[in-house]
Amino acid sequence: MYSALHPAAVSGDGGIPEVANWPLQAGLCLGALPGAVPCARLHTKNVLHEWGLKALVDHAEVVVSELVTNALDASLSHASRSGLGEPPMPICFSLSSDGRTVVIQVWDASPEIPTAGSADSDADSGRGLVIVQALADTWNWYQPHNASGKVVWAAIGTKSQAAHRSTAYGGSAARPDGAGPE
Ligand SMILES: Nc1ncnc2c1ncn2[C@@H]1O[C@H](COP(=O)(O)OP(=O)(O)O)[C@@H](O)[C@H]1O
Ligand SMILES: [Mg+2]
Repeated sequence: MYSALHPAAVSGDGGIPEVANWPLQAGLCLGALPGAVPCARLHTKNVLHEWGLKALVDHAEVVVSELVTNALDASLSHASRSGLGEPPMPICFSLSSDGRTVVIQVWDASPEIPTAGSADSDADSGRGLVIVQALADTWNWYQPHNASGKVVWAAIGTKSQAAHRSTAYGGSAARPDGAGPE
């Protein structure tokens, strides 16, 4: 399962982020339990702090929550649909960074694919991927060639850096000491 997210498995075709050569890599598989979401969120926060990517933490935490929540739902539905009485498969997620952008990838065992709703919809559900779309520079999904299920991923970078600068320096992208952006 985790090998579906290993950097060696994610180079090449359409829909797959090309992060194999990025120097910063971390990953975790979690049981399909409600605690998976806060665990993934905390892990993301800790890893991004260690990588010196504090500006990406807020958006990355929200995106990880949405993607892991969806993966959890998908894993539980997939297990119950199979009717075999097997426990749901774990969820695996990885973080990859080149020092500026972080790519979040979340694998689950379900072959069902994500479908983003509309930003102007009044529906109570279907907002998670709209939020991902708003916070991420890009997002997509793919079926790994070496595992079943699929990976949903998002790249967090430019938008988060801009939001962080704007919050830190009162709406201006320039630093108050004139030294330019961080
Ligand atoms: N990992 C996933 N596996 C299967 N289906 C997914 C996955 N993520 C999202 N989806 C599908 O896309 C829809 C929209 O997801 P989302 O925007 O998060 O809204 P919500 O989770 O509230 O339904 C979900 O209802 C589901 O049908
Ligand atoms: Mg959702």
